[in-house]
Amino acid sequence: MEAQRLLSRLSTNGSVPFIKEKGMLFDISTPCFLQPTKWNSTFGLAPCRIRSNRRQYLCAVSSSKIQDIPADLGHHNLKPMRKRLAVFVSGGGSNFKAIHAGTLNGSVLGDVVVLVTNKGGCGGAAYAKEHGIPVVLFPQTKEPHQFSPGDLVTTLRELDVDFILLAGYLKLIPVELVQHFPKRILNIHPSLLPAFGGKGYYGLKVHKAVIASGARYSGPTIHFVDEEYDTGRILAQRTVPVCAFDTPEELAARVLHEEHQLYVDAVAALCEDRLIWRDDGVPLIRSKADPQQYN
Ligand code: GRF
Repeated sequence: MEAQRLLSRLSTNGSVPFIKEKGMLFDISTPCFLQPTKWNSTFGLAPCRIRSNRRQYLCAVSSSKIQDIPADLGHHNLKPMRKRLAVFVSGGGSNFKAIHAGTLNGSVLGDVVVLVTNKGGCGGAAYAKEHGIPVVLFPQTKEPHQFSPGDLVTTLRELDVDFILLAGYLKLIPVELVQHFPKRILNIHPSLLPAFGGKGYYGLKVHKAVIASGARYSGPTIHFVDEEYDTGRILAQRTVPVCAFDTPEELAARVLHEEHQLYVDAVAALCEDRLIWRDDGVPLIRSKADPQQYN
C-alpha cells in the first residue's frame, strides 16, 4: 500500500510530501528527523514525531493529498510537543530555578530558551549561564549599542518563544512586547491581587503592607500581563496564613515557598494547552486529573 511504503521511508531521516500540523501546512522542505509513532490504517496516516526548526511536533503524515487528512484527527493528534519559554528576572531567580527544574524533571512540557534580565550580575543570570541558557540584557543602559523594545521583540520571535514568564522582573514590560505576545505573558506577584498590587508594591513592601493591614491571609497570584502593573487577568492563586507576630521576612518566605509550586503548575498547564478563556475574559486552568474541573 502506498501509505505503508511511506511509513517505511519515515524510519530514516528524510522529507515527505504531505504534512499537516494543527490544520496548517508544515514546511518540511529541509531534512528533519521523523519518527513514526503508530499506524492508523483507517485514515492511511502515520502520526510522526517531527523535529525541525527547533521544535518537536506530533504530525500526521500522508502520501495522499493534504485535503484527505480528516479534520478531527488534526484536532486530536496534531499538537506541538514542547513549548518555548522566555523567563524575565531581576534578582535571585528562585521562581526561574523552580520552572527550569520543572522543565528538566518532566513536570513542564517546555524549555527555557532565554533568560532576560536588567541586571547582568543577578543570581538568575548566573544560574542561566551555568546551565547554558542564553542571557539577554534588557533594558541596556550603556551607549552606544542601545537595544530597543523592538529589538527585544525581534529576538524573542527569532527564538520562537511561545510564552514569557516574569519572575521578579522589576521593569515595566514595554508595550511592544505586550502587543506582540497577547495572552502569552505571565507574572507572579507575592500578594492576593487585586490587593497590595500596583506601582511601588514589590519585595518586602508588599508583605509589610499586608501585615500592617491586619489581613489574616496572603499568598501569590499569577496573572496575565497588560500594559499596567499587576492589573492583568488573574490565572491562579494560593493562600497562606499571616501569623500573629510575622515579620515581613517570615511572611515573604512562606509566600515564596507557595510561589514555586504555583508557578510550575500554571506553566505546566499552559504548556499542555489546559487553559481556557471564560466568556467574560477570565482565564481558567482545566484540571489534569479531572478534565471537567477548573481551577
Ligand atoms: C517573588 O516574590 C515574586 O512574587 C516577585 O518577585 C519575587 C521574585 O523572587 N514578583 P525570585 O527572584 O523568584 O526568588
